[in-house]
Amino acid sequence: MCGIVGYIGNKSGTDIVMKGLEALEYRGYDSAGIALINGDKSQVFKQVGRVSGLAKEVDEKAPEAHLVMGHTRWATHGGVTVQNAHPQANNDQTIFVVHNGIIENFAEIRAKLKAEGYHFDSQTDTEVVPNLIDFYLKQLPSFEDAFKAALGDVRGAYSIVAVSSKEPETLYAARLSSPLVVGVGDGENILASDPSAIMEHTKKVIYLEDYDVAVITKDKVSVHNLKEGKQTEPKVELLDFENEQALLGDYPNFMLKEIFEAPATIKTATLGRARADQGIVKLGGLESVLRQLKHVDRIVIVACGTSYYAGLVGEYLIEELAGVPVEVHLASEFKYRDEPFSRSTVLLAISQSGETADTIAALKKVEDYGVLRLGIVNAVGSTIARMTDAGVYCHAGPEKAVASTKAFIAQVTILTEIALHLSDGKHKLFKPLLKELGDLPAKAQVVLDSAEDIKKIAEKYADYRDFLFIGRNNAYPSAMEGALKLKEISYVHAEGYAAGEMKHGPLAMIDANFPTFAIATNSQLLEKTCSNIQEIKARKGPVVAIATQGNKTIKDLCDDVIYIPATLEETQPILHAIATQLFAYYIAQHKGLDVDRPRNLAKSVTVE
Ligand code: AGP
Ligand code: GLU
Repeated sequence: MCGIVGYIGNKSGTDIVMKGLEALEYRGYDSAGIALINGDKSQVFKQVGRVSGLAKEVDEKAPEAHLVMGHTRWATHGGVTVQNAHPQANNDQTIFVVHNGIIENFAEIRAKLKAEGYHFDSQTDTEVVPNLIDFYLKQLPSFEDAFKAALGDVRGAYSIVAVSSKEPETLYAARLSSPLVVGVGDGENILASDPSAIMEHTKKVIYLEDYDVAVITKDKVSVHNLKEGKQTEPKVELLDFENEQALLGDYPNFMLKEIFEAPATIKTATLGRARADQGIVKLGGLESVLRQLKHVDRIVIVACGTSYYAGLVGEYLIEELAGVPVEVHLASEFKYRDEPFSRSTVLLAISQSGETADTIAALKKVEDYGVLRLGIVNAVGSTIARMTDAGVYCHAGPEKAVASTKAFIAQVTILTEIALHLSDGKHKLFKPLLKELGDLPAKAQVVLDSAEDIKKIAEKYADYRDFLFIGRNNAYPSAMEGALKLKEISYVHAEGYAAGEMKHGPLAMIDANFPTFAIATNSQLLEKTCSNIQEIKARKGPVVAIATQGNKTIKDLCDDVIYIPATLEETQPILHAIATQLFAYYIAQHKGLDVDRPRNLAKSVTVE
């Protein structure tokens, strides 16, 4: 959600910041802006809409500058207007601020500043920050002191970068529950809300921690932690992913590219971990907590959106294979629940971005309970990866399209490995499942090879306004995830339902204009799912199904069938996901929609 880039150095920062904003576009935004400080002169350019629009204006009008910062805004407070876009400035137009997140007590601060004679030109919560810094600057000796004093007054979640036209050599930055990373260069430093805006320039990074305030010049990064009340030694780490993974190549958009990365994603997620030849599962990230894991009596999974659905698949897997009870909670709900929590419970957070505010809040809630906190995270070095005690990385590479695809595949693959690991090799499915994980990339490729057939079917259904997705057992989360994908990128109303629930309500909606997507792959419950399909057909509802290759009965029963290769019931959700991702993708593409950047959504949801 929203992006920040800042540059200070020997080069001109204008191009670097504009390129950085482009790299952050995938996070989702509605307007963009930059501020340049040149000597004691400052200039601000802001536009509603795409970064490309702003880039045109910047190309024509903006000079070179050594101190530049930019922002892509995803509006929370105040409409999508040029006035509300960032950077926001103080009344004198000498202090500029870009901000990701929400200042929860902005109304209170605004009233206090108004009483001091300040006026406000935007509806944003952010505008209080430059004015509050201005207010303190009149009483304190330095900008740094004023910045810290202002941060002491604000409540909420933020990453903030502030610059002053009186200090053309320095970027001031702070974070609380919202990511910021500094790229350390030679005679230059680049600041951004995620490494994709930095990796072209340097692989050396410093991840800022909560309550950190960083003062950044071209040769130095000094960090002070407000909570600890002292200077801290910034830890320089090396980025470990390759730039190319974030590039489009021959694909028309990132979503299709990332769907097609499924086989490679499964391979990477299992490489060195699921060792069928030795009959073991080795999860390096969990080695340090193996002793504690032996005594687990309950696992609570917290996640949002697609990661939550991966968690639901994990619930079936872990309970079946390891016999450990699992509860899956939406992170946004979990935070506000009072429920008993014993020390032998493990909290497992699942997150692609590792920056989802709701999931971070859920982890923070149990901070003092003494429970083990684990993570399944894709973004290396992200907040969740760093705040958990141990975890398993997805290593799926950067996921750029807002709709999560390959990350879900990786998450479910890793949950399968965790379930196998916890089963201690005792379950009868241990060996077959371990072997199946090795065969799965090829099976995923078979589903991808049928993309043209899925496209034809999708186009046939593209004009319906509603869709039900149904499934039983572990195909139920597959149905919910399929419905979410369709909603997100094609704006078609879709709901995921347990097939057995149809007769308890949703069946009332079924007629010739209300299609159902049935997940009807071979399983012990297939006959029951088929009965549910019969009930829908009896009411003239069109049905498209996913079935296992070779199952002719489904073909006779349904209007259209997408066939996937036979696999164990436990690994079916991975193949279901590829088929439903392609189905949603081709409907959105047929409608001419921007699949990578669906309206109103952001990739990294850093507000609660
Ligand atoms: C996925 O398609 C969605 N855009 C969204 O539901 C996402 O899964 C959710 O916001 C959680 O994100 P995370 O995995 O980065 O925590
Ligand atoms: N709350 C701020 C606003 O609405 C920042 C939003 C963002 O994170 O982009 O302007």
